[in-house]
Amino acid sequence: MPRLLRTLAVIGLMAATFVWYVTLPAVRDTSALEALTGNPVNGEMVFWASGCASCHMAPGATGADQLILAGGLALPTQFGTFYAPNISSDREQGIGGWSIAAFAHALQDGVTGDGAHEYPAMPYLAYVKMAPQDLVDLKTFLDTLPASATPNIPHDLTFPFSLRSTLGVWKLWAGQPDYVMTGDLPPVLTRGRYLAEALAHCGECHTPRDELGALRQSAWLSGAVIDAGKVKVPNITPAKLVWTQEEIFTYLTTGSTPEFDYAGGAMAHVVDNLAHLPKSDIMAIVAYLRAAHPIP
Ligand code: HEC
Ligand code: HEC
Repeated sequence: MPRLLRTLAVIGLMAATFVWYVTLPAVRDTSALEALTGNPVNGEMVFWASGCASCHMAPGATGADQLILAGGLALPTQFGTFYAPNISSDREQGIGGWSIAAFAHALQDGVTGDGAHEYPAMPYLAYVKMAPQDLVDLKTFLDTLPASATPNIPHDLTFPFSLRSTLGVWKLWAGQPDYVMTGDLPPVLTRGRYLAEALAHCGECHTPRDELGALRQSAWLSGAVIDAGKVKVPNITPAKLVWTQEEIFTYLTTGSTPEFDYAGGAMAHVVDNLAHLPKSDIMAIVAYLRAAHPIP
């Protein structure tokens, strides 16, 4: 019996070491990014398309203040409340002075500046599909924005989610999902898919999640409940979203619905972001929505 226990203890220890090892934060090789030169004009487009301000501006900021990325927005979830950090150009409190490598790790690998796992409250499983040039352009644009010395608010999470090391298991569980819309797509859908799935992360709010908070790819855009169960997000697949092309376009750029209602909650700021994009990009998102798999 003691021998069996000893064997079990050894096996348990080996399994724990294995899980710990395979779930250590891993980062990509960024040498290709370092060779690129950033274009801040395109970077601004990537910024609005990706909705960075929605989470990282001071809560409720409007107009030019949306470009002061002081952080502080509370993001309630069933695991506790996350607070978006300061990503302004401040060298102490923000990310001023971060290398392109550190920036890419935070945006695409889910690894923080000090090498720990990052919480998926930051939508890195969408941004991982961001094109290298767009990533570099975005960083160049962020470097031109004002500094804010606002300190970060620590997240308020329940145990064991308060331990960043547990996120390695989450990453294994969620995997690194590829595009949901597949096949041989015409250019307008390729662009629409890039905008919707990689940058604007529509699925982060409109797709239901499993028990561990990973997006259910098979139920893509079919509606979800966010903000720790308080907010219902509508199904926007063609099974439910029956508006015409023009109606969807008007909604995404102005927030007005065909029922004379107005986009509310988190969607209101998504509309503010999309209003900065060229008409052709909004048309591409509309085309993407209309081509999405209908889910009742
Ligand atoms: C849905 C809300 C949300 C959106 C949208 C979002 N972020 Fe974040 N971001 C967060 C949260 C929450 C964290 C903190 C994650 C953590 O502590 O692990 C974070 C962390 C970061 C960090 C790491 C900061 C640090 O001090 O470690 C960077 C850099 C960052 N975000 C940049 C961006 C950029 C650039 C965009 C747009 C492309 C963006 N974020 C969009 C919520 C968001
Ligand atoms: C941060 C969360 C969030 C993100 C990201 C988001 N949405 Fe929404 N969306 C919502 C919420 C919440 C509503 C409901 C708004 C309301 O009640 O007025 C909504 C409503 C909508 C509607 C109206 C549907 C209806 O039947 O009334 C459309 C269309 C839509 N979103 C499309 C999109 C697209 C396209 C994207 C990506 C470009 C996107 N959303 C990204 C949260 C989000």
